[in-house]
Amino acid sequence: MPDAIGNKVPKNYHLDVHAPEQGFFAKGLGNSDWGMKNRLSKLFNPESGNTVMLAFDHGYIMGPTSGLERVDVTIAPVCKYVDVLMGTRGAIRTCIPPTVNNAICLRATYDSSVLVDDMSVGTGIGADMEAAIRMNVTAVAIQCFIGGAGEARSMEDLCRAVDCGERYGIPVLGVTAVGKNMARSTEYFLLATRILAELGASFVKTYYCDHFENVVAACPVPIVIAGGKKLPEKDALEMAWRAISDGARGVDMGRNIFQSECPAAMAQAIGAVVHKGSSAKEAYEMYQEIKNSTK
Ligand code: R5P
Repeated sequence: MPDAIGNKVPKNYHLDVHAPEQGFFAKGLGNSDWGMKNRLSKLFNPESGNTVMLAFDHGYIMGPTSGLERVDVTIAPVCKYVDVLMGTRGAIRTCIPPTVNNAICLRATYDSSVLVDDMSVGTGIGADMEAAIRMNVTAVAIQCFIGGAGEARSMEDLCRAVDCGERYGIPVLGVTAVGKNMARSTEYFLLATRILAELGASFVKTYYCDHFENVVAACPVPIVIAGGKKLPEKDALEMAWRAISDGARGVDMGRNIFQSECPAAMAQAIGAVVHKGSSAKEAYEMYQEIKNSTK
């Protein structure tokens, strides 16, 4: 306890300095509680307002995907080049050192495996909020199957996660899952992203599409894009650049980073687009330079 007697008398109240604005840099999230905002500031860089998330949760439905045969070997060395790690608790616990400084977005749902035709039929909560808190995560990701057989169940899971997340100050990432037979159209993403935001997701993950600026405008919280199937590095950087130019606040990219010929170089090049405003051409040059220097 500080001494009550003999202290210096307070006199400098900085009357010429305005109190800090209570506004918040992330779209639509200004009314969140302090703890939620603090976590959001770890997910999104407050200076750029953007984020590079590395997704390596593919094994929870696909088993050992190319590039993720050994998460400890391929993902751990790339962590320092990204802001957020997105994975299942099993992969994070076993393969990611607890000493990393990244924000953690926990994949909190399970879904049917690739052996089942419609992955939405077997969806549910795979890690509850207590498990998330124990793992000191920064956000939880809930996958939603708008238009799929598992739509109602996944929306229920999202709403319950938002309720719990608000109780403990943990943001929820709403993930738009597109079934095998569903079109990745602008109309679909307009609908799905808006529904997830209206149900309370703090940020939404979706795919890049035509007229993406309309999807961003109609979604009242930040959007990050998934990378999708592996593209040539140049094309993946171009897609990231387009998404950021259209208003996305980052990427949540997996295969286009960990299946790259040089994942560390690709993560840094994506970071240049997302945080520094580099063009796709500049970022590709950076990718090649780093890749060649590590040979
Ligand atoms: C969807 O939520 C998946 O589980 C992945 O996290 C997502 O597809 C991102 O990975 P990729 O960039 O490889 O598509």
